[in-house]
Amino acid sequence: MRLVNFAIAGLSALALAQAVPAVAQDHGAAAGAKEAHSSGGHSLKTPADGWSFEGYFGSFDQNQLQRGYKVYREVCSTCHGMKLLSFRNLAQPGGPFFEPQYANPNDNPIVKTLAAEIQLPSIDPETGDPVQVAAKTSDGFPSPYANEPAARALNGGALPPDLSVMAKARHGGASYIYSLLTGYYEPPEGLSVSPGQHYNAYMAGDTAAQWSGDPRHKPPGGFLAMAAPLIRDGQVTFDDGTASTIPQMAADVATYIAWASDPKMETRKKMGAAVLGYLAILAFLVYLSYRRIWRNVEH
Ligand code: HEC
Repeated sequence: MRLVNFAIAGLSALALAQAVPAVAQDHGAAAGAKEAHSSGGHSLKTPADGWSFEGYFGSFDQNQLQRGYKVYREVCSTCHGMKLLSFRNLAQPGGPFFEPQYANPNDNPIVKTLAAEIQLPSIDPETGDPVQVAAKTSDGFPSPYANEPAARALNGGALPPDLSVMAKARHGGASYIYSLLTGYYEPPEGLSVSPGQHYNAYMAGDTAAQWSGDPRHKPPGGFLAMAAPLIRDGQVTFDDGTASTIPQMAADVATYIAWASDPKMETRKKMGAAVLGYLAILAFLVYLSYRRIWRNVEH
C-alpha cells in the first residue's frame, strides 16, 4: 500500500512539475518546502524540517502550537470557527498552553487572559438586555458569524468550514492545510478564474472547464472562495522570536489544527509504546517458562 502511494505521489509530482514549472518557481511560497506523498494521491508539500508530530514517537512542539494558535486567532478565526474547542482545552496536557503546575486547566492564567480578551453575547440578569461579557475558560470558541446565511453572505456564497477537525477531514491532514495555504500561485496563462474564486494548486477539484490550453497539460488543483489568508511575512508577530514567514505561519497553524483534531495523540502514542514493552517482556517470560516446562521431555 505504501509503495503504491509512493508511486502515485511520484507520478503526480511529475505532473505538477510539468504543468506549473514557471509558476511554482518564481513564487516564493514554494521555497523552503519539499514535496511529500499523501494518501489522497495528490502530491503535497511539507515544511522543510517535516512535522515533529509524525512517527511512532513524534510529539507536538509546544512553542509551535502557541504560534499556530496565534495565527488561527489573529487570521483564520475571523472566518472559521472551531466549535469543538473551549478555551480550557488550550491548557490541557499536550495543549499549547499546558503548564504542569496548573493541573486544572481553568486555573491557567494565560488561557484565562486569552479567554477574557474575547467578548461574548449574553443577557443582563437584572434588566434582560443583551450585553457583551468577557469569555471564561469554560466557554467554547466563539463562532465568527451569527448563522450560516450570514457566513455565506459575507463569503460570496461559500461557507468557511469549521476547523476543529480539519486535519482529519482532508487527505494529507496538516500537509494538505500547509499546501493549501502556500498553494496560491498566479493562475497560468490560459486559465480563467471566475469572479470571487481563487486558483489554488492544491485545492481538490478540476481546472479542465476553465482551461483553454492543451488538455493534457491542464494545471493541477482547483478553485475556492477563500482568498490567500497568509499574504505577507510578519503578518502575525511571534512571541518566541521565530521568523514569521508565510511558510512558517502556514506550518504553525497546520500543526495547531492537527493538534486540535487529535488532542490525545501523545497520550495514545505513549500508551502504545508501554503496551508494546509489556508484551515484549511477557513474550520473553512465556518463552522461558516454555523452556522450563519442556526441559526434561523427549521431543
Ligand atoms: C476572509 C475569510 C477567510 C479567512 C480569513 C480564512 N478563510 Fe479559510 N475559507 C474561507 C472560505 C469562504 C472557505 C470555503 C471556500 C470554498 O469552499 O470555496 C474556506 C475554506 C478553507 C479550508 C477548506 C478547503 C477545502 O479543502 O475545502 C481550509 C482548510 C481553510 N479555509 C483554512 C484556513 C486557515 C488555516 C486560515 C487562516 C490562516 C483561513 N482559512 C482563513 C474563508 C476564510
